[in-house]
Amino acid sequence: MLDKFGWKKTEKKDLSLQAQMELIQMQEVPKHIAIIMDGNGRWAKSRALPRFIGHREGMHNVRVITKAANAIGVGAITLYAFSTENWKRPSTEVDFLMRLPEEFLADFLPELMELNIRVEMIGEMDGLPSHTSRAVQNAMDKTKDNTGMVLNFAFNYGSRREMVLAVQKIASLVQQGDLNMASITEETISEQLMTSSIGDPDLLIRTSGEYRVSNFLLWQLAYTEFFFSDIHWPEFKAEHLYSAIIDYQKRNRRYGGLKGE
Ligand code: FPP
Repeated sequence: MLDKFGWKKTEKKDLSLQAQMELIQMQEVPKHIAIIMDGNGRWAKSRALPRFIGHREGMHNVRVITKAANAIGVGAITLYAFSTENWKRPSTEVDFLMRLPEEFLADFLPELMELNIRVEMIGEMDGLPSHTSRAVQNAMDKTKDNTGMVLNFAFNYGSRREMVLAVQKIASLVQQGDLNMASITEETISEQLMTSSIGDPDLLIRTSGEYRVSNFLLWQLAYTEFFFSDIHWPEFKAEHLYSAIIDYQKRNRRYGGLKGE
């Protein structure tokens, strides 16, 4: 049995979290939140633990934030879990990160079904070890008819690579005579990006005190509000997400127009 925020009735919420949820204007919850989950390594280092423990803790936190976002009616969250640049890390770390989707989904998939959450992925499946792509594909297949929040993993994802693929697709449509060069618009490009069904994020959150975009959703972030937190990802909890949303709701998004328009 779930309460109105999507938590099981037996789960405890502290009062301050409840109070924060009341502060959020439910009709203006960002539809799509993108998160750069940074700081697993530093979180581990600060506790004299190996980096992989930080990544596992980060994985557990994906569940926490997924449920917190779902509870207030966010439409989609896109989580930067593995970038095209992350292949440069030591192979032991890469191998560990490639195991996380299986571990995460083995445990969390039944609850994702219960919460009506749909798993999606942006990035290239080709190039992933078969055990990783199998786990992600299985989760996407099992949840494909779920109609609630989208849990979108950016995995083996790089925004420039995404744009190269989009340009190649558009060029081939033109070459085949299926698209007129003069009729290419911004929408044509958006439609060819991996986020075509989800759309652009309203809010980008980056944890752990870095102020970079790191090849994440470069086209899609054109009018996104940014929120930077010093907290390392494993410690970025529901109350931090809600603070970011409350901060976002105080902003005046103008999309290049004038105040109040
Ligand atoms: C960046 O922090 C984080 C990553 C490259 C990995 C992020 C992955 C997760 C949070 C888990 C993903 C979960 C699933 C289910 C796929 P960093 O390690 O670079 O941190 P540092 O900058 O402090 O070293």
